[in-house]
Amino acid sequence: MIDLRRITSPKVPGADDYLRRTLLSLASRWDGADEMRQHRRLGSTDDLIAAQKFLARGNRGRIPIDRLFLANGTWNVLLILLETLVGRGNSIAVEASTYSQVRDAAQILGIGLVPILLDADGLIPEAFDKACHVHRPRLLYCVPNAQNPTACTIPAGRRAQLAEIARRHDVVILEDDPQGLVREDFPPGFSDIAPDISWTVMGLSKCFFVGTRIAYVVAPDKAAIEQVMSRFGAMAMWYASVPSAAIATRAILEGAADDLLQAIRLEATWRRDLLAKLIPGISPSCVGALHVWLKSDVLSGDELVERARMEGTLVRSGSEFSVEKPNQLDGIRVSLADVSRQSLEEGLARLARIMGTVPV
Ligand SMILES: Cc1ncc(COP(=O)(O)O)c(C=O)c1O
Repeated sequence: MIDLRRITSPKVPGADDYLRRTLLSLASRWDGADEMRQHRRLGSTDDLIAAQKFLARGNRGRIPIDRLFLANGTWNVLLILLETLVGRGNSIAVEASTYSQVRDAAQILGIGLVPILLDADGLIPEAFDKACHVHRPRLLYCVPNAQNPTACTIPAGRRAQLAEIARRHDVVILEDDPQGLVREDFPPGFSDIAPDISWTVMGLSKCFFVGTRIAYVVAPDKAAIEQVMSRFGAMAMWYASVPSAAIATRAILEGAADDLLQAIRLEATWRRDLLAKLIPGISPSCVGALHVWLKSDVLSGDELVERARMEGTLVRSGSEFSVEKPNQLDGIRVSLADVSRQSLEEGLARLARIMGTVPV
């Protein structure tokens, strides 16, 4: 079986060396015992400078460090933000097809979901506006770059429209941006264009190493950070892990993370080029950074998953991500990232055979 389900940073040449370089540097120049005896809470000044530097590798401007903090991975901080900014009994607007853990989180926290329909450019502004009128969500959770699962990216003009609607309805925007650094051509994020109402969470899982469990968070301002985090005060589960933060910070400040990111970008481009060669004609809006969305006019996502499985390839069906039944965005999500180049080529060739036998 070739498993094209998991999206993570692809294995790239030199990855072990980039990590080793950072670990050797830490071993030779870090008097870490005192730091290891302390909590890191929101991150040290060096962590925040590193976060600022790394985030600027995308198309975000230079974000002031007092708007930044570190968390233990995306879900750690999403649960905190949803609990604090929304609260039990209220609702959030989400993409109609979205990262499946959002549904689990909403259920745990007693928060309602208001699905907003997507087109090729992502969230449809008119649908968001109408949902705000009718359901009064407190917050919009979205993945504007390489959306999960549909891989679409919201263009700059539409981001401005959505931000204007959110502001008019007093809705906070929470953008989850795990693939934001993997391509260089993503538009500026909501934290740049509407800083006063937006939070951004960028986990390092796709652009560095999932094993760090570090996520960078951009808040509207320093006061907002303290207000949200003070509720969780001494519950140290959200304090950044010291060794993980030290590795990420050292790798960024000394350049190894830049080298790794560059290698990840090249690898992702190579893999998207392979996709274009093996399955030509996919709309660019269905090609994300590390995954792609494939759809057929005659077979449902579930049927495509089954056909792929019979051919020895595992992919995810759109129905797994649908917030509502019936599923309105049907297709399959195919990761380009997690397997070797050779397995990817074989897996995509199998999918090409299936897609070639069904009109798209
Ligand atoms: C949209 C989205 N957010 C967050 C994550 C996970 O991030 P982390 O590893 O930081 O928890 C993923 C991983 O698949 C994702 O697709």
